[in-house]
Amino acid sequence: MTTSNLRINLDRLLKRIEALGEIGAIDGGGVCRMALSDEDRRGRDLVVGWMRDLGLEVSIDRIGNVIGIRAGSEPGNPVMTGSHIDTVATGGRYDGNLGVLAGLEVIETLNEAGITTSKPVGVGFFTNEEGARYAPDMMGSAVHQGMFDVEDMLSVVGTDGSVLSEELERIGYAGDVPTGQFRADCFVELHVEQGPILELEELGIGAVEGVQGISWTEYKFGGTSNHAGTTPIRFRHDAGYIAGAVSVEARRIANDMGEDQVATVGVSELSPGLINVIAKEALVTVDLRNTNEAKLQQAERTMDDFIVGICKAEGVSVESRILARFEPVEFDRNMVSLIADTAETLGHKTRRMPSGAGHDAQMFAPNCPTAMIFVPSRDGISHNVAEYTEPEHLRAGADVLLQVLLTRSD
Ligand code: GLV
Ligand code: MN
Ligand code: MN
Repeated sequence: MTTSNLRINLDRLLKRIEALGEIGAIDGGGVCRMALSDEDRRGRDLVVGWMRDLGLEVSIDRIGNVIGIRAGSEPGNPVMTGSHIDTVATGGRYDGNLGVLAGLEVIETLNEAGITTSKPVGVGFFTNEEGARYAPDMMGSAVHQGMFDVEDMLSVVGTDGSVLSEELERIGYAGDVPTGQFRADCFVELHVEQGPILELEELGIGAVEGVQGISWTEYKFGGTSNHAGTTPIRFRHDAGYIAGAVSVEARRIANDMGEDQVATVGVSELSPGLINVIAKEALVTVDLRNTNEAKLQQAERTMDDFIVGICKAEGVSVESRILARFEPVEFDRNMVSLIADTAETLGHKTRRMPSGAGHDAQMFAPNCPTAMIFVPSRDGISHNVAEYTEPEHLRAGADVLLQVLLTRSD
C-alpha cells in the first residue's frame, strides 16, 4: 500500500484523550496531575498499559522517563515522538498529553495497516516537563538527553517539600535504565500551540522553528513585621511592598522591550499574610522569556538592578535562586520544512512560528534533527482548565505527525 494515504483514527485518539483526562480531573474539564503525584502514577500506568497493548518494547530510566519502541526492519536509532503527561495544578487535557497519545495513535495506525518501517519508531513521555512542582521544567527530557546530571535532579526538593527521588520510588517509576545515552534518529513533537496565533490567522498547523529562552528566578525578600496602623511609611521594611513593585517592574520591562519580551510574576506569597501586619517575608517568582538571548539577558539585568535598588532603599534583604535557565533553541531547518511541506500536502493552511512555551523537544535539538507541530488552541488558552482544541485540528496534527514519522522512518 502507499503509505501517503494512511490516516489516523480520530475516535481512538479522542477516546484516549478522554480516558487520560479523567485521571486527576478537576472542575471545568481540566486536569491536576502534577509530576510524581498519585494522579501522575495512575496516568502513567494507563499509558504504559496502552504501550504494552500496542506491542511496544517499554523501558523506564532512572528519572522515570518512559520510552516505548516499535521495531523496524533494520536496527538503528529510533525515529522518536512524544511529550509529557504531567500537568500544572490547573491544567487542561491537551498540553503534553496530545503529543504522547497522538504518538500511540500513530503506532496503532501502523499496526493496523501491517506496516513495518525500516527504522524503529518510538514514543516517549518525559518526567516533570511542567516544572510546577519541581524546578526546572523539561527536567526528564533534559536528563534523558544528557543536558542535566541525573543525581542533581533526583535530589531536587519540590514546592511541597518532597524530594523528587523519594516520590519517584513511591509511585513505582524509578527505573534502572541509565540516562543521557539514548540517541534518536530524530524527534518530532506534536503539541497544542497554547497561544492565539494559529486561531487568529485561521491556520490549521504551525511548523515550529524554535523555542524562546526561559529564565526562572525565585526571590525571598526579608523585611520586618510591624503594625500597619502605627508604623510611619518612612520607618517600614516592607517585603510586601517589594513583592508588588517587582510585579509592576516585570510588566514595565516587557512593555518597554516590546512584543518579543514576556515577563510574569506567577508566585507572590506574603508572610504572615494578615491585613494589619506589614509583611516580614515575600516569596516571588519571575519568569522572563525572549527568542533573543541578548535581549533575555538585558531583561534579567534590568530586573536584577531594579531589585537591588529597591531593596536597598526599603532596607529589605534579598536572596535569589535560579530555578531554570534555557537559552533560545533553533530547530532543524530540514525537519521544519518537512513538517510544513507535509502539512500543506495534506491540505492544511500552515505557517512557521516560534514556540512561547518550553517543550521536551528542545532537549533533543542539540543531539538530533528536531522540530515540532503545533495545532490551534481555542482562544489561545492553556495552563487553564478551559484549554481546548477542535477534534478536526487534533486529527490534522496527528495525521501530519504520522506522515512525518513515516517519511523519516522509511
Ligand atoms: C513549561 O512547559 C513552560 O513553558 O512553562
Ligand atoms: Mn507542554
Ligand atoms: Mn505546560
